[in-house]
Amino acid sequence: MKASARLLSALTLFLLLGAVFTQKPRAKKPTKAPGSPRKPPARPPVRKPTVPPLPEPKEPTDFPPPLLGPPSIFPDCPRECFCSPSYPNALNCENRNIRVIPVIPSRTHYLYLQNNYISEITEEPFLNASDVRWINLANNRIHRIDKQVFEKLPALLYLYAQRNQLNEVPSGLPATLEQLRLGRNRITRIPTGVFSKLGNLTLLDLYHNQLSDSDLGKNTFKDLKSLVQLNLAHNTLKKMPAGVPNSLVQLFLDRNRIDDIPKAYFDSFSHLAFVRLNYNQLSDKGVPKNVFNVSSLLDLQLSHNQLASIPLFSGHLEHLHLNHNSIESINGTQICPYSLQADLSDMSKVPKLRYLRLDGNHLNPPIPLDVIMCFRLLHSIVI
Ligand SMILES: *[C@@H]1O[C@H](CO)[C@@H](O)[C@H](O)[C@H]1NC(C)=O
Ligand SMILES: *[C@@H]1O[C@H](CO)[C@@H](O)[C@H](O)[C@H]1NC(C)=O
Ligand SMILES: *[C@@H]1O[C@H](CO)[C@@H](O)[C@H](O)[C@H]1NC(C)=O
Ligand SMILES: *[C@@H]1O[C@H](CO)[C@@H](O)[C@H](O)[C@H]1NC(C)=O
Repeated sequence: MKASARLLSALTLFLLLGAVFTQKPRAKKPTKAPGSPRKPPARPPVRKPTVPPLPEPKEPTDFPPPLLGPPSIFPDCPRECFCSPSYPNALNCENRNIRVIPVIPSRTHYLYLQNNYISEITEEPFLNASDVRWINLANNRIHRIDKQVFEKLPALLYLYAQRNQLNEVPSGLPATLEQLRLGRNRITRIPTGVFSKLGNLTLLDLYHNQLSDSDLGKNTFKDLKSLVQLNLAHNTLKKMPAGVPNSLVQLFLDRNRIDDIPKAYFDSFSHLAFVRLNYNQLSDKGVPKNVFNVSSLLDLQLSHNQLASIPLFSGHLEHLHLNHNSIESINGTQICPYSLQADLSDMSKVPKLRYLRLDGNHLNPPIPLDVIMCFRLLHSIVI
């Protein structure tokens, strides 16, 4: 009697929610991400000459010449930059075909040098730039940085140097630094102690480099006491990075070769909320039973791995991505963070999971009843 009443109410719930439950994965937009930096202008197409061709010009003369602007009301404004009268602290030198950094006026706080042909950072242009707070050097050809350049910028907060040709993390970064973006370089080396003074760094982006396990020591990240976001995605790591500060909130490790997570790996973190391990080589063997049962986690992404079963997670998790694994069945009783017999009229006990992706596995609808009974806040499941 009691059991059939329970079944009936579960069925009603199922019918009520059924309409919105199953949805197809959204089609990927084929367009490029909006804010992605522009490529430097391509060379004009070569026309078949009617006269004998001149030899191919060699670098650097085959770069288009720097674009010079009209004279500025600021006498110290470099000709290849724009100095806005309404923003006297900004120096806009982006998209100007610059090869050599001009002398930076001392009034500069915000320095924009992205999308040029700069290959080296030397000390001279920065000798007077002691108030610089932001430097954007993204999308140049930088392969060498003089050691003292950034050391002598005592106000520097953000350094963006993604999309360059750096082989190692630059040394001599000032203790004031809060954000360091070095994604899409060719970094294979993190010099010892290079982060040791950076106690205020909150964001470290090393995405899309060539870092392997041996390039990351036990103490590499140890002194980054304020680190909130660490992005090591798209490298060649086989192991989880060691010694990551416990201040961390976001850890991105997509597109590596990680096949194993140590049992207590996440135990020391109390703020970790976003973990991305998409496109790795995780199978059930490398994922200890309780490793993701971490109460601070809100968003866990494990798509494109080789998992055969759904890992356990805490009742606080809100988003779970498990698409494109080898999952064959789903048992709501086993993955429910609370006993299904528990009094789930106490809303604080209801698991917070709202979004679940399971497409690209070996599962077929319908979604088992015990999944629906446990995860009552689930409003989207992709299967
Ligand atoms: C450096 O800045 C000071 C003060 O703004 C200025 O007087 C001086 O001419 C500048 N020197 C150079 C080399 O730009
Ligand atoms: C680090 O940040 C704190 C708090 O914002 C600030 O008081 C301190 O001066 C910073 N340290 C350095 C070296 O900039
Ligand atoms: C998950 O962790 C919580 C708190 O640490 C614990 O009470 C619970 O038993 C764990 N879940 C499982 C299935 O082991
Ligand atoms: C799900 O797991 C529970 C507990 O381990 C078990 O009693 C139940 O039979 C399983 N359900 C299915 C459909 O396999």
